[in-house]
Amino acid sequence: MDKILVLDFGGQYNQLIARRVREQHVYAEIKPYNKITVEEIVEIGYKGVIFTGGPNSVYDEKSPHYDPAILDAGIPVLGICYGDQLMAFMAGGKVDSAENSSEYGKTTLFTDNNVLFKDVPKESICFMSHTDYISEPPAGFKTIAHTPKCPCAGMCDEERKLYGVQFHPEVTHTIFGTQILKNFIFDVCECNMDWTMEDFIEKTVARYKEELKGKRVLLALSGGVDSSVAAVLLNNAIGENLTCIFVDHGLLRKDEGDFVEKTFKGQFGLNMIRVNAQDRFLSKLAGVTEPEKKRKIIGEEFIRVFEDEAKKIGKVEVLAQGTIYPDVIESGKGDSAVIKSHHNVGGLPDVIAFDEITEPLRDLFKDEVREVGEKLGIPYELVWRQPFPGPGLAVRVIGEITEDRLALLREADAIFREEVANAHCEKMTNQYFAVLTDLRSVGVMGDARTYGRTIVLRAVTTDDFMTAEWTRLPFEVLEKASNRITNEVPGVSRVVYDITSKPPATVEWE
Ligand code: XMP
Repeated sequence: MDKILVLDFGGQYNQLIARRVREQHVYAEIKPYNKITVEEIVEIGYKGVIFTGGPNSVYDEKSPHYDPAILDAGIPVLGICYGDQLMAFMAGGKVDSAENSSEYGKTTLFTDNNVLFKDVPKESICFMSHTDYISEPPAGFKTIAHTPKCPCAGMCDEERKLYGVQFHPEVTHTIFGTQILKNFIFDVCECNMDWTMEDFIEKTVARYKEELKGKRVLLALSGGVDSSVAAVLLNNAIGENLTCIFVDHGLLRKDEGDFVEKTFKGQFGLNMIRVNAQDRFLSKLAGVTEPEKKRKIIGEEFIRVFEDEAKKIGKVEVLAQGTIYPDVIESGKGDSAVIKSHHNVGGLPDVIAFDEITEPLRDLFKDEVREVGEKLGIPYELVWRQPFPGPGLAVRVIGEITEDRLALLREADAIFREEVANAHCEKMTNQYFAVLTDLRSVGVMGDARTYGRTIVLRAVTTDDFMTAEWTRLPFEVLEKASNRITNEVPGVSRVVYDITSKPPATVEWE
């Protein structure tokens, strides 16, 4: 399989670059600049290398540099932003600081005739974000693009197949960015389009049939997209030898536990154990109001329940986890890059005896996991499920958690989701749900005064959940949800919409 290496110099778009390449059905992987040598790059046989951007200036003492031998290794290189300046610097060109005239945002790009700009108009819009610029391309390089402020917005040494662009082709603001990346991947690197999800499924299933032959595999199934896709993929390879444990902690949304069970046990014939542990969780949570304490109790109890079930199965050789690529990527920011530790169910590997861990999705981005899910025939509701926190509705019932309060929230939440779906607004928002507050307020129904609960509706729009905007859902949707909740859910007298972004608020209320 042809591969492109994204060599990370600490740029914020490293994952985006790799995803853009993979969208062209060419496999791309990210490595920090200080974790792979030129010899290794040659040995692995990458068809091309992309240097990412980064926050530094090439003249900073601490700025990340790379072995110049890469430029003569016979492998095409594309430098982006800092990567472009670094390539110029390594090859003996001149980089200057344009401190008073840094370029940020959309800019008009003028391109020359060059393979990198095949099917790109002479004049188009690109996205710039830089202070330093190449004032003199290195010997052997020629300038192939410019902007009103940047004399060398693109350069190349055709003989050595070295290309650089000052702008960011990976972001959508660069209108012909995808075309430029395609030109590099296919015309310069001569890659084949051999990265497809059908192929991934076929190869993974075939590999597991061999590797896991006769081994017993255990998976914690949450009903989220990652563990669901991992489960079906493994089931296709080893069937009965896979045991999935689905812990229903009683903090799921309306009908969710039954839906997960029906889908996996029924449709896919998965060897699945559903543990109905509602009582265990509710009794541990009785009287607890502090959010972090709720989280801790649920996390710990989850492990205990899982452990008890696993013990019944006996010896397990392999533990499978739904880890995905963004969880395992090391960043090229600074020298002390660490791998983010990630366990779908915190701490499981420490308490269950097993010989090895397998992570079927560790090479895939989220959108690829979804595509695999669709190809495997997993229902739309699961494949496109919005994120749902591990502690579930416990962090959406403010204050004490009781069965009655959970039931009330489940109804209100189901109505809200139904109305968003009825209005086809799911694509407007990345996460949306109801919260039951501990606030009571006065209302009037018929001729009687009421003193009921307050429900909050929350919907956010975000790329990464680190920051989020409140979603501008149509008033009609909010009105309908509010009317229905106050009419259909006894005990609710007021519905409010949360119009706070993150920061300063968080997505969840607790
Ligand atoms: P916050 O509330 O921190 O949420 O802005 C960001 C995203 O993380 C989810 N979230 C959690 N997920 N366990 C989880 O598995 C948790 O304790 C937890 N708290 C928040 C939240 O739903 C949102 O998608």
